[in-house]
Amino acid sequence: MGAGTGPDGQPVLVRGAPPGAIVDVQPFARRHGVVHARRVGCVEAPPGAVVPRCAVFGSCGGCVLQELDLPAQRAARHDLVLRTIGDLDGVRVHPPVGADLAYGYRNRVELTYGTDRWLDPAALAAGAPRGGRFLGFHPAGRFDRVVDVRRCELVPEGLNEVLAAARIHLETSALPPWNPRAQSGFWRHLLLRISVDGARLAAVYTAPPQGSEADAEVEALAAALPSGTGLAWFVSDRPSDAALGVLRALVRPPGAIEERVGRLALRLQPTSFFQTSTAGAEILYATVAALAGSGDRLLDLFCGVGPIGLWLAPSFREVVGVEAWPAAVADAVQNARRNGIENIVFHGGPVEDRLASLAADVAVVDPPRAGLHPRAVAALAALGLSRLVYVACHPPSLARDRRVLEAGGLAMTDLCTVDLFPQTGHVEGVARFVARERPRQEGPRPTG
Ligand SMILES: C[S@@+](CC[C@H](N)C(=O)[O-])C[C@H]1O[C@@H](n2cnc3c(N)ncnc32)[C@H](O)[C@@H]1O
Repeated sequence: MGAGTGPDGQPVLVRGAPPGAIVDVQPFARRHGVVHARRVGCVEAPPGAVVPRCAVFGSCGGCVLQELDLPAQRAARHDLVLRTIGDLDGVRVHPPVGADLAYGYRNRVELTYGTDRWLDPAALAAGAPRGGRFLGFHPAGRFDRVVDVRRCELVPEGLNEVLAAARIHLETSALPPWNPRAQSGFWRHLLLRISVDGARLAAVYTAPPQGSEADAEVEALAAALPSGTGLAWFVSDRPSDAALGVLRALVRPPGAIEERVGRLALRLQPTSFFQTSTAGAEILYATVAALAGSGDRLLDLFCGVGPIGLWLAPSFREVVGVEAWPAAVADAVQNARRNGIENIVFHGGPVEDRLASLAADVAVVDPPRAGLHPRAVAALAALGLSRLVYVACHPPSLARDRRVLEAGGLAMTDLCTVDLFPQTGHVEGVARFVARERPRQEGPRPTG
């Protein structure tokens, strides 16, 4: 949602307006003095304007900034982080960094099956059918519709091949896609992952099988996918539309692939958390390393399968990773072995419960979008850290948690943005905090 001003200076939120553009709009609501409007035309294109590459741009909820070239997008996302964080007095703001790849960078994509597709006004007017069998993404704010996607420009060709094969399979399957309104159907989500070397994994999420044909149908999907693509089958009876479920079977091996990021090799299952851009992840970890420096004991909190702790381990005597999801902890332990890194241990459990029993001089936190649990942020502030690096996939959470960390004696000294998600409105903010009473150090030089 772009924020702008109307001709009378009134604040207007516009769906689908790139930063810097002058657009014609159609208001549809007014909330708390702010007009909400739909864009109906473009009066003046912004600097850096380009023609979007994607066939479903504007319908699909994902790539809202495709009308700008990468430098203009990057600057817009950077500015957004600075505005979100607010008071930057005494904070070194570093120029935004990111990988050069504007398209084809995503190593993972989550698709939704559906019976009702989203059509733009032109397709609706042309009488295109709305019902059928579809595979794609939800449009913004519509859990019950699917933008049918033949290819996604954000993923490498290797994943578009898997998508094409899954679409052909869906056309002839004996079982229908899931209908979230009716809460019926079989095929729910398809998650695809690819490594930099081209190894591919898929995970299919279905409703609980009702009859004997489900097994044969999932086998048929495995057979339809390009050779070498692993397929895991998860079952979900959740009414909500999230790709979450219980593993029913590894239908076709492999169940995990190896990803190379910098000098690390990481084992990833289809559902493992890993940054969606591998090239971007390298830049993120180098940025975190420059901000964290070196020291005695490092905490890698919300460590996932361990990449940040493993990356930083050579600069610390000892590293302790903490992660809530048991399968990720098991992968992190294996990843340490695989990379011959011995000065790292991993603990399972919520950070907010484990922190009280841990001590360290430096910590890195990389929480989910919601940010830090109030108990975690209070425990961190009380830990007597000399440095803390906060990796924020949702910068408003960083802005909120910063207040408690600063009240606890840490001060934000550096702010970086790492551009991990070209074409989208998302951006990673990375901040360094240092203990107030310690003498100020030389500013680090993030790479990228
Ligand atoms: C943004 S990911 C970061 C993963 C990792 N640092 C990386 O770079 O790949 C957040 C991770 O936090 C984990 N998580 C979520 N809530 C948690 C909690 N309360 N305590 C510990 N881990 C948690 C998730 O399972 C996920 O692996």
